[in-house]
Amino acid sequence: MNIPEEIFDIKNWLVNNGIAEKLEAAVILGSGLGDFGNHIEDAKIIPYSDIPGFPQSTVVGHSGSLIIGTVSGKAVMAFSGRFHFYEGYPFSKTVVPVQLAKAFDVNKLIISNAAGGINLDFRVGDLMVIERILHPHVEIDINQTENWPEELKANSKRVIEIATSNNVPVKKGTYLYVTGPNYETKAEIRAFRGLGGDAVGMSTAPELMEAYRIGVKAVAVSLITNAAAGVTDQKLDHEEVKEAAEMKKDEFAKLVIGLIERF
Ligand code: HPA
Repeated sequence: MNIPEEIFDIKNWLVNNGIAEKLEAAVILGSGLGDFGNHIEDAKIIPYSDIPGFPQSTVVGHSGSLIIGTVSGKAVMAFSGRFHFYEGYPFSKTVVPVQLAKAFDVNKLIISNAAGGINLDFRVGDLMVIERILHPHVEIDINQTENWPEELKANSKRVIEIATSNNVPVKKGTYLYVTGPNYETKAEIRAFRGLGGDAVGMSTAPELMEAYRIGVKAVAVSLITNAAAGVTDQKLDHEEVKEAAEMKKDEFAKLVIGLIERF
């Protein structure tokens, strides 16, 4: 499975601090989506800064802690705060949460993110189930398994079924990965639309690739927090990410709980 030895050192530290050896599901919480942590029962909250060897998250709006507890009776770990390439991490470090989940035998990973809507049918606050990944111009140096795009597509169907049966409206589409840190230009967004991108964001693609590489069943959902550049006249800033997340936190939680229970 090929996970770095340091990941097991992190696991051992957590187990020595009272965490069980095996967990059932993991959730990576996107910008502003940390509120999901309040749905975790008997939660143990461990700041990343307390965990020896763990990278530290530097982005405003990511609190940077690992939350371990139960959801619907299942043992879960949630990463509130993740590691982006634009913060200066190599791709090999952006996937530490995925590797740590695997070290705890997790086989159900739910990845979330904030993203800009490229698809003109999308509105701020929509949840988009990720069916496909595009990463034009960016070489992500993670070994990819041959058929992970097909597996992701198949798993995304199941997410849509679960969302629908839980009465959570979702869109579906292609997530176009950019490294950031700058938001895109209008011209880029026009080009990305032509390439088939429905939403644009700066995370998730490396994490999904790594999950499939090491054999963790993974799905991903974007919260559309803004219209991508040029879609409307509004200026882009981090405030609207927080506003959209606040607006949709209950629906997002309902979806993630449904996935923990049934995916
Ligand atoms: N572009 C890139 N990443 C993002 C955006 C965006 O418009 N919104 C939230 N994350």
